[in-house]
Amino acid sequence: MDGGQILLSYIKVWVILLLLSATFPNSKLAAKNTEQDKKRKLAAENSGISIDCGADEDYTDRETGISYKTDKDFISTGKNKVVAPEYNLTTLYYGKMVNSLRIFPEGERNCYTLKPIQGKNQNYYVRAFFRYGNYDSKNQTQIKFDLYIGVNYWATVEETFENKYWINYDIIHYSVTDTIYVCLVNTGFGVPFISGLDLLFMNDSSYRSMNGSLLRRVQADLGGEVSLGTIRYPDDVYARIWQLDVSLTDSVSNISTEAITNIDIQGSDNRCRLPVEVLRTAVQPRNGLKSLSYTYTSPYKENFTPEFLVFFHFAEIEQIAGGKLREFTITLNGLKYGLFTLEYLKPLTIGPYKLQDQEGLVRFSIDASSDLPPILNAFEIFELLPLHDSPTNQTDVDAIMAIKEAYKINRGDWQGDPCLPRTTWTGLQCNNDNPPRIISLNLSSSQLSGNIAVSLLNLTSIKSLDLSNNELTGTVPEAFAQLPNLTILYLSRNKLTGAVPYSLKEKSKSRQLQLSLDGNPDLCKLDTCEKKQGSFPVPVIASVISVSVLLLLSIITIFWRLKRGRLNVPLSSSVGLSLSLKSKNQPFTYTEIVSITNNFQTIIGEGGFGKVYLGNLNDGRQVAVKLLSQSSRQGYKEFLAEKIAQIC
Ligand SMILES: *[C@@H]1O[C@H](CO)[C@@H](O)[C@H](O)[C@H]1NC(C)=O
Ligand SMILES: *[C@@H]1O[C@H](CO)[C@@H](O)[C@H](O)[C@H]1NC(C)=O
Ligand SMILES: *[C@@H]1O[C@H](CO)[C@@H](O)[C@H](O)[C@H]1NC(C)=O
Ligand SMILES: *[C@@H]1O[C@H](CO)[C@@H](O)[C@H](O)[C@H]1NC(C)=O
Ligand SMILES: *[C@@H]1O[C@H](CO)[C@@H](O)[C@H](O)[C@H]1NC(C)=O
Ligand SMILES: *[C@@H]1O[C@H](CO)[C@@H](O)[C@H](O)[C@H]1NC(C)=O
Ligand SMILES: *[C@@H]1O[C@H](CO)[C@@H](O)[C@H](O)[C@H]1NC(C)=O
Ligand SMILES: *[C@@H]1O[C@H](CO)[C@@H](O)[C@H](O)[C@H]1NC(C)=O
Ligand SMILES: *[C@@H]1O[C@H](CO)[C@@H](O)[C@H](O)[C@H]1NC(C)=O
Repeated sequence: MDGGQILLSYIKVWVILLLLSATFPNSKLAAKNTEQDKKRKLAAENSGISIDCGADEDYTDRETGISYKTDKDFISTGKNKVVAPEYNLTTLYYGKMVNSLRIFPEGERNCYTLKPIQGKNQNYYVRAFFRYGNYDSKNQTQIKFDLYIGVNYWATVEETFENKYWINYDIIHYSVTDTIYVCLVNTGFGVPFISGLDLLFMNDSSYRSMNGSLLRRVQADLGGEVSLGTIRYPDDVYARIWQLDVSLTDSVSNISTEAITNIDIQGSDNRCRLPVEVLRTAVQPRNGLKSLSYTYTSPYKENFTPEFLVFFHFAEIEQIAGGKLREFTITLNGLKYGLFTLEYLKPLTIGPYKLQDQEGLVRFSIDASSDLPPILNAFEIFELLPLHDSPTNQTDVDAIMAIKEAYKINRGDWQGDPCLPRTTWTGLQCNNDNPPRIISLNLSSSQLSGNIAVSLLNLTSIKSLDLSNNELTGTVPEAFAQLPNLTILYLSRNKLTGAVPYSLKEKSKSRQLQLSLDGNPDLCKLDTCEKKQGSFPVPVIASVISVSVLLLLSIITIFWRLKRGRLNVPLSSSVGLSLSLKSKNQPFTYTEIVSITNNFQTIIGEGGFGKVYLGNLNDGRQVAVKLLSQSSRQGYKEFLAEKIAQIC
């Protein structure tokens, strides 16, 4: 039997199952929640996210107990649609979930953002459902787009109106990042869409591959009865969809046990955590033959040699007289493994075996080594999906996310990884390194306000930064000069203030940096202002405060004197006054100072505070008198320091 036939038979079974489940919707429901039922279930440890894309509201699926969320918290782009009425599925098996969908008429790439609580460096079972369902009444037959997990290619989705049901793609994905993106990429063959998305935490090292993610190709349950339907959540803790495999029907017979509570599924032997419903049935060769064989052909024609992982699942479900045990070997694509022995009601998982085949073929046979025929309860075939690309450098991702947040940048295409697959974030460019780095950011004319975000300085590989034509305020950070590869820095037409850092001006002068600062009226580009304000913002404030305090003190003094009738000349409000005197802090009125300096007759110097005058006290001592003007920029402290220095 070739792969095409097998595939066809899957589809047939699927259709039958759907029809049956529509007919007997409650046959399984009735059995739920009994004590016995609990005993034969694994702890529902899966903490996951199930999303019904395009749904209007959250709901709990009546049959499976799965809580579906709408997708509004996971994506901000796209439009909600429902399938055409003739495609409305009333079956319980995912019926409601696949009746709505979200479509993405805009943007080359649209991504769902999933943040599982278990975080990075964990294994997740991710599953995406697609159903065109003729939502646009266009009877489309040629819709095709790409699906990505994180930054890596996952599958090409092809859907037509002729498909009554849905397509799902399952992957076991080891995530190296806390955030998992599932992206749909428009490849020019119609508007991408999605119907549902599941993410389940999978605390299980058996399904872990260091070198890539695992694409599910076959998840076959053998020997089951069609009327029981497809086994999945909540029977299966990982919500795997087990399909009855009937491709061997002609050469095998079914066996099963009702002693389901006795199958030891809780133990460590059941390392792939198979549900009891899968293990309780099996096939064995007909007519006393000693061999079971099976062939799978990958329907996917890749331009690389596919690598497969194969798991075999067994559990002895027949009590054999005389305590005899089944013994067998497995031959897989020409390689022989074994001997294996089965114990009554004990699960046994063999594999995964890795193999490569240019034709995409997986062939195996299970051969008895004793008188007893072999059995097989289930098997799984995964294809290894190499993860060639690493996500963008995490430092860059954190920085750009902080920038997005700080400036409230709300661009539809700023979603998913910044650099891969393909840079679709407008204004952003990346290099081809692995992991990629952000090398250019253009946020000109983007209505940015506030300071220049410090996170920009964390984009350490950046070559070009254009922030021109915004409303940015505050100073230009000197640390821009430390970005080794920055050659373009456009800050023109903003409201920046302060002085331009010296190091940036130097880089600009030596032509290492194209610096553009025009159109910032309050920005001081002169060399002189750097020393006075830009570089010493704290002392400037301090001195302003001290001058005010000084003025206030003077005014209080003046009023005090006024009250006592000692001040009789009008005060110039623009001058604060003070007097340097040897050791005593003796106060003087303005009139007294005019007298002492003989109406400010002799200038003996000029400091940062203003002019210094020669004065004569009544007792004949000579002093230096300084006038502190309001416009003086230096601080009171320095004034005092100077006073002591100059007084003698
Ligand atoms: C589709 O089927 C559901 C039942 O699953 C029903 O509630 C809904 O009204 C149907 N919608 C349409 C458009 O027929
Ligand atoms: C779509 O197909 C149906 C039947 O298959 C036909 O009746 C209808 O006219 C088609 N519509 C379009 C827009 O081609
Ligand atoms: C995964 O399972 C192991 C052993 O069963 C347990 O020790 C560990 O805490 C689990 N990890 C998480 C994240 O649940
Ligand atoms: C991963 O691939 C490398 C070579 O590509 C191989 O040497 C290594 O054994 C693989 N690791 C695993 C865990 O499969
Ligand atoms: C075994 O199960 C398959 C799949 O349900 C079914 O088609 C077949 O008729 C069964 N065989 C027997 C002998 O009951
Ligand atoms: C990301 O960039 C930072 C800063 O340049 C660097 O320290 C770090 O090693 C990079 N990470 C990776 C995985 O390359
Ligand atoms: C940034 O984008 C604007 C508008 O798209 C463009 O005029 C400008 O040249 C770009 N800046 C750089 C540095 O490429
Ligand atoms: C810049 O990166 C460092 C180290 O990666 C990080 O600790 C810091 O919080 C980042 N700063 C900003 C403002 O993003
Ligand atoms: C700066 O550019 C050079 C040459 O392209 C490159 O080798 C270097 O890694 C870059 N530095 C950073 C921090 O990205």
